[in-house]
Amino acid sequence: MSTTTPENRDQPQVAPFILNHVGDISRPRRGMSTAAAIEHLPGEAGIVANVRNTLGWMRRGNEHLLEQHRRFGPVYRTVFAGYTVVCVADPEMVMSIARDDHSWSTALAWLTFFQGIDAKINASQIDSPLFLDFKPHRDARKILQPAFGHTATAGYFDAATPIFEKAIDRWVEQGHVSFKDAIRSLLVEVSTRIFLGVDSGAREFERALIDYWEGPLSLSRSALLSSKWRRSIRGHRVLCEMLRSRIAERRATGGDDLFSRLCAKTQESEGILDDDGLVRLVIGVMAAAFATTSSGLASMAYLLAIHPEWQEKMREEALAVSKGRVSYEDSKQLEVTSRVWKETMRLYPIAPYCARRALHDVNLGQFRIPAGTFVMGLISVVMQDSALWSNPQRFDPDRFTEERAEDKKSKASFLPFGTGAHTCTGMHLANAEAKSFWHAMLTRCRFTLERNYRGRHTYMPAGIVSGDVKLRVERL
Ligand code: HEM
Repeated sequence: MSTTTPENRDQPQVAPFILNHVGDISRPRRGMSTAAAIEHLPGEAGIVANVRNTLGWMRRGNEHLLEQHRRFGPVYRTVFAGYTVVCVADPEMVMSIARDDHSWSTALAWLTFFQGIDAKINASQIDSPLFLDFKPHRDARKILQPAFGHTATAGYFDAATPIFEKAIDRWVEQGHVSFKDAIRSLLVEVSTRIFLGVDSGAREFERALIDYWEGPLSLSRSALLSSKWRRSIRGHRVLCEMLRSRIAERRATGGDDLFSRLCAKTQESEGILDDDGLVRLVIGVMAAAFATTSSGLASMAYLLAIHPEWQEKMREEALAVSKGRVSYEDSKQLEVTSRVWKETMRLYPIAPYCARRALHDVNLGQFRIPAGTFVMGLISVVMQDSALWSNPQRFDPDRFTEERAEDKKSKASFLPFGTGAHTCTGMHLANAEAKSFWHAMLTRCRFTLERNYRGRHTYMPAGIVSGDVKLRVERL
């Protein structure tokens, strides 16, 4: 692995063919084909493998990935949704892939998925943080930082809580809820409130985000051949128009939401953040937030429904901390909730991998990875590695207690939010939303599954329990 000193911080060694193709490596304007000379690696290729693997990921989630890891070893090649990829499941290797941004590019990896949807991708100095590396990426993170600090998160917590309470009161009144759909819409409602400062338009945003997200999984990337691809382009355009039309008003009126904070930033950020960049930065955050926290909450509702003893433990703790509304500061005492949330993210991983492209030839142990290779560091597989976790398929939140601390066995053991320069910006917000939601839910009702079923882990495209998680809800 290369070493980073202040002098060479922004000068990674990059294979010439990559530079010729993408130009500025820190802000690439074009993605690259995933074809690479990787036949020397164990694994599979071809159309049948592509179909089997794509369906396997979607329908059987981490179970499929664990199976492939057992079959092919810690580093293997495969095809997924038409992309040729190398999957890496060894904990130390996953860690180095996620952290060593002088050998691996995050921007090139995410552009592989999203290029072509937005004609102006990376045309401004700032874009989605996942499309940037090095200095422009640090600039984007710096601009976002205050909007994800402690004070801002406490404000978002206070804004989200009444929205959760109102929805839960409605479910209690009805006596049932189709939780998976309801929680996704609810989280989009919360996002439009805390990111955009508006109480309406959540449906439109949700539709546009779904369309935008589905593009990378369409079989063809031609607007002529694929309606999914066309919808994705339209979804992105709608998001741009909705945000752009509000910029002037936000600059004039201000507000505590992410969008208003960033609109105010454009004036003070030395010309780095123009309006196109601002719009893309906000879309980048909203797209990363979309269906991640809500998928985790849906999996957790399923687990709590089939493990009523944990529901009871969490309820006791919630009532002990506050019988009424909980404050952000007090929510930090919800220690059992925190353990169950962590165990949910371990057992039903939300983000399966850290996606990267090799900037030059890299050796991972005995395996040579040629420059340009699309690599997925499988954080989801490491979170169920039997060398790190006792009885990894078992739901056991106590593995996160200080005494057992299984998550500390290796630095790579538990990385649900990634690690390194691209670590999830929304980590604290997601954890806060989970605490606010479960406190409100458990102090109002008890719930069971309407129909018992054995949930599987699936990717849709975020990791989530299978089925619709229909709940019977009973007032306390
Ligand atoms: C439980 C919910 C969530 C999980 C499990 C999750 C997971 C992740 C992971 C694994 C990454 C790193 C990707 C990589 O290195 O390739 C990431 C990045 C990111 N996440 Fe999250 N995320 C969650 C919620 C959120 C929320 C609520 C937001 C926004 C408020 C958000 C915003 C972002 C952004 C902007 C990035 C890109 C950071 C960068 O490139 O510097 N995430 N997330």
